[in-house]
Amino acid sequence: MFFVFDGVDGAGKSTQLQMFVQWLSDRGHDVVTCKDPGSTELGERIRGVLLGDHEIPISMRAEMMLFTTARTQLIQQIVKPALNEKKTVVLDRYIFSTVVYQGHAGELNPDELWSINRVATEGIMPDTTFILDVPVDVAMQRLGDSLDRMESRGIEYFEKVRAGFIREAQQWPDQVEVIDATRSPDAIQSDIRDRAIAYIERKSANQS
Ligand code: TYD
Repeated sequence: MFFVFDGVDGAGKSTQLQMFVQWLSDRGHDVVTCKDPGSTELGERIRGVLLGDHEIPISMRAEMMLFTTARTQLIQQIVKPALNEKKTVVLDRYIFSTVVYQGHAGELNPDELWSINRVATEGIMPDTTFILDVPVDVAMQRLGDSLDRMESRGIEYFEKVRAGFIREAQQWPDQVEVIDATRSPDAIQSDIRDRAIAYIERKSANQS
């Protein structure tokens, strides 16, 4: 199985992902967890360029290609082999982030970014994506003052990011679950687990 956690910065994605991975492991899944961009040597180098504190000019299109390139390596080196070995893969972000941050909010064409990413990932798509949704002011409060290159883009950009995730989720009703992440961590997690069970059962019914 292949799960993705995505959403606006500050939605509590990493905490929820860790709780979810622990739950999957307790249920007997052999879980591989990765961060996109990152988790490979090439991906970590690219992550450093994309999120680091430097003055190198990076155009929106180059930024999009860099995120996408890191993803290609992640798929080739880790995700594809793990899925072939029937492991359960959980990714911290995936294609939606590029389509939303560089597309809907970054003003590149979302359809083009889908096409490029289909090529970049050999069309490998998750069984389900959990999009954690919070109002931007709540997200910004949670992020505090130490912001990386992406997080410093301001409220207006992040309003477009949030709206972009919702727009994309509406295009994929059978593969995307929008999670209200304003609730307590335990309430959010129990919602995610309930929805995951439905996907896990559906998948095992299809396979038998
Ligand atoms: P994130 O993965 O949330 O890591 P951390 O929690 O360590 O900050 O941060 C990655 C940042 O990169 C985040 O601001 C979203 C952004 N991003 C894009 O703009 N496009 C992409 O394709 C991806 C994967 C991330």
